[in-house]
Amino acid sequence: MSFEAAATLDMSTPAAKRASYDLLAAQVRSLLEGERDWIANLAQFSALVWQSVPELNWAGFYLARGEELVVGPFQGKVACVRIPFARGVCGACARSREIQLVQDVHAFAGHIACDSASESELVLPVVAGGRLVAVFDLDSPRKSRFDAEDARGFAAAVEVLAAGTDWP
Ligand code: SME
Repeated sequence: MSFEAAATLDMSTPAAKRASYDLLAAQVRSLLEGERDWIANLAQFSALVWQSVPELNWAGFYLARGEELVVGPFQGKVACVRIPFARGVCGACARSREIQLVQDVHAFAGHIACDSASESELVLPVVAGGRLVAVFDLDSPRKSRFDAEDARGFAAAVEVLAAGTDWP
């Protein structure tokens, strides 16, 4: 397989950001082509995001296991292993199955600080066949790093992943 990830994606203007997320979704499609193993795909997806999306200090998955999330493939510093659905930004996402866009993690009651460098956070549900299988968590060292365009862009990429993977 030959695959070349984009260098750091340009997110400097709204138009550049939109084009960058279109490219990211196309890259996810091409990266996962012919492979449906969930560990392989989650690992590759996290690595692609980590190497091409600017201003992140953590990018990865928490897997839904009963009423708890368990850390899965990720890039960044070691993190909390288990997060009950009742706790944190990731838990809120798992409970509601809604994207959580947190501009300032210090203002989010119940935020779990795995890395004190984190200032803002975006968490997306990963739903396959109507089932919540995981959440995809992104942390940034910059306040208000994520906006609605980032949420839309990552949601599109996560959809490609969810459909292209066989989940346990
Ligand atoms: N901040 C998350 C915990 C996971 S770490 O950021 C990797 C939360 O509040 O759920």
